[in-house]
Amino acid sequence: MSHIIHRSLRRTPPVAVSGEGIIIRDSKGNSYLDASGGAAVSSLGHGHPDVIDAMHAQIDRLAYAHTAFFTTDAAEELAARIAYDAPGDLDHVYLVSGGSEAMETALKLARQYMVECGQPQRRLFIARRQSYHGNTLGALALGGNAFRRKPYAPLLMDVARVAPCYEYRDRAAGQSVADYTAGLLAELETAIVAAGPENVIGFCAETVVGATGGAIPATPGYFKGVRALCDQYGILFIADEVMCGMGRTGTLYAVEQENVLPDLVALGKGLGAGYQPIGAVVARDAIVQRLRNGSGVFQHGHTYVGHPVAAAAALAVQRVIQRDCLLGAVTVRGAALRRMLRDAFGQHPHVGDIRGRGLLWALELVRDRDTKEPFAPALKLHEAVRAQAMACGLMVYPMGGTIDGERGDHILLAPPFIATEADLTEIVSRLQDALERALGSIGVAAHADACKRAA
Ligand SMILES: Cc1ncc(COP(=O)(O)O)c(C=O)c1O
Repeated sequence: MSHIIHRSLRRTPPVAVSGEGIIIRDSKGNSYLDASGGAAVSSLGHGHPDVIDAMHAQIDRLAYAHTAFFTTDAAEELAARIAYDAPGDLDHVYLVSGGSEAMETALKLARQYMVECGQPQRRLFIARRQSYHGNTLGALALGGNAFRRKPYAPLLMDVARVAPCYEYRDRAAGQSVADYTAGLLAELETAIVAAGPENVIGFCAETVVGATGGAIPATPGYFKGVRALCDQYGILFIADEVMCGMGRTGTLYAVEQENVLPDLVALGKGLGAGYQPIGAVVARDAIVQRLRNGSGVFQHGHTYVGHPVAAAAALAVQRVIQRDCLLGAVTVRGAALRRMLRDAFGQHPHVGDIRGRGLLWALELVRDRDTKEPFAPALKLHEAVRAQAMACGLMVYPMGGTIDGERGDHILLAPPFIATEADLTEIVSRLQDALERALGSIGVAAHADACKRAA
């Protein structure tokens, strides 16, 4: 038995030994197409030489310096790069070691800002059901993933909660998109008023919902409405772009496509593309100026914040994305993937919705397309898809509880930005096989014609 406390304590996963481009190999000689970039992380694929060179160079110079004593060129250059690329006056960067730490940092920065504005009574965050913001206690409290929260519920701070923007399930038949969106915004305003606006610190949301709901973009105007409400009531808008940021949706920040400017943005995953553990919070000027002119310190910190090797890796990742015009590639390949998914699954009797943006896509699985009835949670269809995909040499990111934390299944795809059209064709083909095998394993016969390979 392994001495690692693995995710499953009953099963040791395959041992990954090498990776190159879109492929990852295990110790038994199996290779897998990494169609999910792990969990939407590996945007440049595996073994990118530029990133590896940058890490080597930094390690040779200096592997670590504590930020209580020093800053480093790598961290300074990365922060300058992020500030330069970020929209508006999102000019200040706090570097951490992952997405949950980024969210914790955003929450604390928001709270300290309110305290230094002379409003220490502001203590409440508002967030959405079916969201995920991380697994540390603050981020978990914020998130609306019922399954992940359940065992820890007594330890979690109170968070007011509103509906996610989940058009496929929640927009009523005959309701216009504009009316649906207006209803969501009215619900948010009611929550702000009910809490007492003077008690609220901020509203947090994933710009495109990632793992919990499965690649769900907002309806047009939703985030504009959110921004307007936050401004009206003097509360901060915190965008969690840990999964959907850093180019995943075709722009560096997903909010750019919503034409709004958050007060704080959390980054992770694609920032370092898996080469090093790194995350960041990007803050607007007014927030940092308030602290600078007030107490003069941000009362926070971890041993590994601003780690120079992580910063060097992330800087190299960002340079490659720009040099190789990968944001354009995401848009072009994303359109191709969308077409392929629609060709392959558009008529599939058990695929209810195909949605996403850029290279972040999901299939929502249903027992019945007309009624949108999900499969029984006890069948654990998402687990079967994961297992069958691995058997087909494919990594996808399936998840259960899509609808309410218990019911519903979806499959998330987040291929690297370097994937070719041929790679995407192969991914979709293997996914067809994996889905049919998974459905077969839970006793559901597939519709033969609809499931024939596009080829
Ligand atoms: C939107 C979002 N926020 C936060 C996190 C937490 O990031 P990490 O797992 O790096 O702590 C995740 C991870 O999946 C995420 O998808």
